[in-house]
Amino acid sequence: MDLSRCYDGARGRPARPATSDRPGSEPVVSGDVLATPAPVMRTDRVASLVENIWGLRVDTVRQLSSERDANVLLDGRYVLKVSNPAEDPSVIDMENAAMSHAARVAADLPLPSVVPATSGASVVSVIDDAGAACLARLITVVPGSPAEGRPVTTELARQVGALAARTSLALQGLFHRAGGRVLDWDVRRTHHLLGEPDVLDRLGALGPRVARVLPRLAAAADATAALPAGLNHADVTLSNILTRTTPGPPTITGLIDFGDMHHTAHVCDLAVTLTSVVRNTARQQPAGTWDLAGAVLTGYQRHRPLTPQEADVLGDLIIGRLALTLVISQRRSAAHEDNQAYICQYDTSTSRILGELLDLGPDQVTRRLHTLTGTSRVILPGTRRPAADNRAGGADSASCADGAEPGDLLRRRRRVTGGALSPLFYSRPLHIVRGEGPWLFAADGTRYLDAYNNVAVVGHAHPTVTQAVSRQLRILNTHSRYLHHGIVELAERLLATMLEPLDTCLFTTSGTEANELAWRMATACTGGNAAIIAEHAYHGSTKWMADLSSNEWPAGYHPDHVATFAAPRRSTGGVDRQTAAERVTAAVARLADHGDKAALVLADLGFTSEGILDAPADFIAGLVDSAHSAGALFLADEVQVGFGRVGPAFWRFAAAGVTPDFVTLGKPMGAGYPIGALITRREIAESLARDYEYFSTFAGTPAAAAASLAVLDVLENERIPERTATVGTHLRDKLRDLARRDARLGDVRGTGLIAGVEISGQPHTQDHAGRRALARALLDALRDHHVLAGLTGPDGTVLKVRPPLIWHTDQADLFAAAVAESLATIGWEQMPQKT
Ligand SMILES: Cc1ncc(COP(=O)(O)O)c(C=O)c1O
Repeated sequence: MDLSRCYDGARGRPARPATSDRPGSEPVVSGDVLATPAPVMRTDRVASLVENIWGLRVDTVRQLSSERDANVLLDGRYVLKVSNPAEDPSVIDMENAAMSHAARVAADLPLPSVVPATSGASVVSVIDDAGAACLARLITVVPGSPAEGRPVTTELARQVGALAARTSLALQGLFHRAGGRVLDWDVRRTHHLLGEPDVLDRLGALGPRVARVLPRLAAAADATAALPAGLNHADVTLSNILTRTTPGPPTITGLIDFGDMHHTAHVCDLAVTLTSVVRNTARQQPAGTWDLAGAVLTGYQRHRPLTPQEADVLGDLIIGRLALTLVISQRRSAAHEDNQAYICQYDTSTSRILGELLDLGPDQVTRRLHTLTGTSRVILPGTRRPAADNRAGGADSASCADGAEPGDLLRRRRRVTGGALSPLFYSRPLHIVRGEGPWLFAADGTRYLDAYNNVAVVGHAHPTVTQAVSRQLRILNTHSRYLHHGIVELAERLLATMLEPLDTCLFTTSGTEANELAWRMATACTGGNAAIIAEHAYHGSTKWMADLSSNEWPAGYHPDHVATFAAPRRSTGGVDRQTAAERVTAAVARLADHGDKAALVLADLGFTSEGILDAPADFIAGLVDSAHSAGALFLADEVQVGFGRVGPAFWRFAAAGVTPDFVTLGKPMGAGYPIGALITRREIAESLARDYEYFSTFAGTPAAAAASLAVLDVLENERIPERTATVGTHLRDKLRDLARRDARLGDVRGTGLIAGVEISGQPHTQDHAGRRALARALLDALRDHHVLAGLTGPDGTVLKVRPPLIWHTDQADLFAAAVAESLATIGWEQMPQKT
């Protein structure tokens, strides 16, 4: 064997000779590495070669087995890899580039590295004992021994999944033109190979069964063209994964052999790994197929979550890979009869697992993989995926509700949920499956303009929010009794939006819980036992808060410890400071008549459940003054109107220029991720702390904080509060225009991006039933015009327009146009007659 030329892999072209000036052989030409004999390297010449080229003295030299290359172990520390003469030099360059790229971007991945020659070259050309010119490299040895053939526990499977994902991610930024090579092992080509004449006949009884699913395998391979792809190791299998040999739980120590690297979909790379683990050749099997698959996927998804589309094809790719393994092994054993035992050593295990998956059927395999990956819970409108298992291996369940028929879903809902206690909107309930910005999409694909949902304050599924929450969920989500920067930052940012004495923030899971906590503090702080609320107030759903929600009281119900004041309606008297103060003072007196003492005055300053009223700042100031004069505290419930809805102010109380003792937050705060807050002064919070601690498990979790911080970011970055006033005014102007032309619309009210439109009924009837019927007819007609709104007010006769705050004037125009068209379709004559 002679050293001839040095190949500079870094530059991808032959370079100057390294340590010899002997004339070189012909340049290496790539060909079929499996058809060309492996290089022959005499052991006694290896040491001097290595010393000449790499400048390393080695004592022990041991030949390693390889079908197509010559690999020699040196001192147990290095492997001299002499590649098959037919090997494409650019492929070797790609392997080297992959190892050094991965070392740079993910230094802790246990991969071998290339030892440069003294010339600096990473690859050199040598002549083997048979006179063939071959490329040679020296790479470091990673410790451990191959995992193939040894028992695979679920813990090891999890590590294997993680390794596959991390390797895939480490290579994602690498480009190499050799990645486009065509390999039989490429899972995307499975169906080509399996579809060749007579190929499947050689698989015995499995052949016709694979033939039946071949079109499906081809469709899955086709579908990978639209999936995330890149250069992949493509052979992260138990044969190439090294594990610790010392006793103790199995631990991966290395990943070797970049010889099958190519550009492919990442899910194909995963399919290879998953196949290898479930097909493992150990005689002792400590875990079942689906436990192993689940563990690989858990490990993988910790680093690289799969998309539903990737999970859709994974099962077919695995089936294809198993069949491909058998076919390639049959073909090679026919060509190399002398080496049959070695080539076919895994056929029994491969056939066993292929048979198992075919028995189950590709549909069921796919369902199980969806369940294991969690992608069965993510159903895109317009796709109908088969129902997933409740658990892998379990019976089918109808957990894919979004694929169900609406009628069926409604029946199932009625059977299992609260019935009359939890009614749905609309007489024909809507089945909404997706949201995007100001739009909601129904299962039948209809797009609706959302004029109702203030929870989606920054629009549905805002990527900033979904990204923040999902990233946090992947890292940590626990209760708030540990230090966590998210919740501290959130409290700081919220307090920065408040007025001076408000210095304490306590997190809750809902608006109800925030109001309830305030109620407890108010009673502890003032010694009072009673509350004052508006006549048609809503403050929450617990027993205490239901008592403080006059709008919800059944006929004849009025808890003793609660008194009400009339909301600021011009129709019911003044809306000035004096009037407000008198109303609260009168309520205080009524409580005193029963021996009760007012502790708290609560008001939603948008008076949403009252029918969306425009309370003048004076009226609000009157409420605060009189609460304080009575020794009670004042709570501004910002659950409806907070977070910039009354922009440019962030809070309704701030727009009114008052300073409450409590501010409660909810709904929009986490854009749908449950979180609420109570803001108060420290001395008030401490009055409760004298006797109690406050803790609510899900309040202020890291994910909730991430959601809320993202909401604040979006509101700030997109300057939303600055816009809401303009868009809200535009909306009301449009609606007032309509009201001027159509007597069925009355007063149009609201501050910021919220509007209430009084539904007046027919000119000749002002009865409540008629107005209610008209309001409902209008709401239904709006739905038919693909607009979703709501009703509010004491009689449910006020059209409630409370959209995500990302509305621009376009959406306001669309809404007003839909109201006009809806009114036209209702027609006066269709109105219920006066009863
Ligand atoms: C003004 C007001 N306060 C409190 C609540 C209760 O909030 P949650 O449903 O988050 O408990 C609501 C809910 O609609 C509300 O409108």
